[in-house]
Amino acid sequence: MNFLALGLETSCDETAVACVDSNRRILAQSIHSQLDEHAVYGGVVPEIAARAHLSRLRPLIEQTLADAAVGKDSIDMIAATTGPGLIGGVIVGATMAKALALAWNKPFIAVNHLEAHALTARLSDGAAFPYLLLLVSGGHCQLLAVAGIGDYRVYGSTMDDALGEAFDKTARVMGLGYPGGPAIERLARRGDSTRFALPRPLSGRGGCDFSFAGLKTAVRQAVERLPAGAADDQAAADLCASFQAACADILAERCRNAIQRFAAEFGRCERLIIAGGVAANLALRERLRDEAAQYGATLIAPPPALCTDNAAMVAWAGLERFQAGQRDRIDVSPRPRWPLDGDDMRLPREAGGLRV
Ligand code: KG4
Ligand code: ZN
Repeated sequence: MNFLALGLETSCDETAVACVDSNRRILAQSIHSQLDEHAVYGGVVPEIAARAHLSRLRPLIEQTLADAAVGKDSIDMIAATTGPGLIGGVIVGATMAKALALAWNKPFIAVNHLEAHALTARLSDGAAFPYLLLLVSGGHCQLLAVAGIGDYRVYGSTMDDALGEAFDKTARVMGLGYPGGPAIERLARRGDSTRFALPRPLSGRGGCDFSFAGLKTAVRQAVERLPAGAADDQAAADLCASFQAACADILAERCRNAIQRFAAEFGRCERLIIAGGVAANLALRERLRDEAAQYGATLIAPPPALCTDNAAMVAWAGLERFQAGQRDRIDVSPRPRWPLDGDDMRLPREAGGLRV
């Protein structure tokens, strides 16, 4: 049986719609990135984001259905990110999905955005459970064991900034604009990663938690210490390379600890999966690929366009839950916070769906 899902993503600054089937085919996807709307503010402004989602979402749905060449009758379910995220945007997407579900008489699935990132490698690579997941985005930084749909065991989280946030803030103090990740990765390619000695917070302490505050402060101090006139292109490239190398070291060490814990709990760790916007970074991927290989694990990284926020992953997470028998009530509330290891992530969700 092949099911077809329409997925909506509006939790941050991408308005995205996708049509995906349960045979892992992305029939069509459309995405409007709000970069221009937020650029002058140096970060995402929630109110502007919500308004932009509102004006873009409907045309994107029409375009996606047209591109996929499917009518509403062929759609089996409608999935939307229902949290966590910027609540104004989440409300726009979830309400649109509920309205379509009512009007078209289709099931509605409330998708957790983090679960959508967590399951992306099953869409892109058909990854089998269980696997170790490094989820690194603008809002989240976590290592977790994914034992099955809804069965997530958090090994460690960030104690301060998310990794994407550290990239974005570092880029801001260097005057590189928003979002910082791609700009830093580009500059780092021609930089000397040994020029600036930057800290690796929590190094040698064991466990799987992260901390990036000290690293971020050290970058700011390095920028301030550069003599006037020396903040040239090469200095910026060297600083980016040094920052990225520090991030790679931190991730590699934390993943090493997590692989060992995963192996102790599940027998062995065959797959390390990297997901979330920062997983688009090719240098970090390479480092983690080497690290995983040393412990007999294979790194799986979805294509960059499926790592950053997109609706194909939301449609896919909806399909996984739909096939597991889940249906959500139309009155579930959008949520600004929604942890992956909470009771309401387990399957089956109670008959009433999410607690409201
Ligand atoms: O998953 P995502 O699109 O949105 C959230 O759910 O947060 O992640 C966005 C984050 C931003 O912080 C951005 O700077 C970072 O991912 N990012 C990158 C790269 N591309 C995006 N960070 C490092 N290197 C990249 N190439
Ligand atoms: Zn995300």
